[in-house]
Amino acid sequence: MRLDLAGKVVLVTGAASGIGLACVRALLAEGALVGAVDRSPVPELGGDCLAARADVTDEASVAAAVEAVTGRFGGLDVAVGCAGISGPVGTQLAATSAEAFGAVLAVNVTGQFLLVKHAAPWLTAAGGAVVLLASDSAFTSAPGMAPYCASKGAVVALTRALSVDLPGVRVNCVCPSVVDTPMARTDLGTALDSPAFPVQAPEDVASQVLFLASARSRTINGQAVLADFGVSARSGFPA
Ligand SMILES: NC(=O)c1ccc[n+]([C@@H]2O[C@H](COP(=O)([O-])OP(=O)(O)OC[C@H]3O[C@@H](n4cnc5c(N)ncnc54)[C@H](O)[C@@H]3O)[C@@H](O)[C@H]2O)c1
Repeated sequence: MRLDLAGKVVLVTGAASGIGLACVRALLAEGALVGAVDRSPVPELGGDCLAARADVTDEASVAAAVEAVTGRFGGLDVAVGCAGISGPVGTQLAATSAEAFGAVLAVNVTGQFLLVKHAAPWLTAAGGAVVLLASDSAFTSAPGMAPYCASKGAVVALTRALSVDLPGVRVNCVCPSVVDTPMARTDLGTALDSPAFPVQAPEDVASQVLFLASARSRTINGQAVLADFGVSARSGFPA
């Protein structure tokens, strides 16, 4: 399938690691012009890639990153929001502080809102697209995941609202199950080495993101694409 992303300008947050980094690599391989934004340093990737430092929870910082990318490439066709944190995963509810809860929402929800807010004028001019990273945690949970699940459920609702707010711009999100990234390695440790559950690669998610970023998905808008190997489709009925 031809994605026709060559020459498209794409800004990716969370570009220094994991899924965001895989998206940047995949986009560069397609010939896209990429603004790679992260609060941490982005590796040198070559190609038409501009690295910019920004904290997605800081509005001025996000605005400056959008300005840097549009200034370099002359516009913006697609925004991809991968920046995220898992927060106090595994912590019991009684031990979860309001501060820790709020910190997760600040990055995972407010950060996505700020990205789209500042990218929107450019995306509207281009008839562009947004792809946000939600998670299967928007729909399912494990003990000690309330802040993260709340944040990802909010990203799904935010996606639908933004698709209504931005005529002419498609806004979708992807909801992967566990992906082998530094985030998952920190949270799950050696359970990822011989997993008793299906694990996907960052490149699997990047493929979904690129499809939703491309005009090949032009009829898909306001949707949450759940990619979990079908695990959540199975009933608890014992048969
Ligand atoms: N790994 C998984 O199992 C999994 C599953 C579903 C969804 N996700 C989501 O995918 C996205 C990427 O996760 P990942 O697994 O690649 O994690 P990761 O930790 O490997 O990468 C996340 C990146 O986001 C950046 N970041 C964090 N806070 C930031 C901030 N305030 N400003 C700017 N950058 C910031 C980090 O520096 C890092 O480079 C996240 O939104 C995550 O919730 C991950």
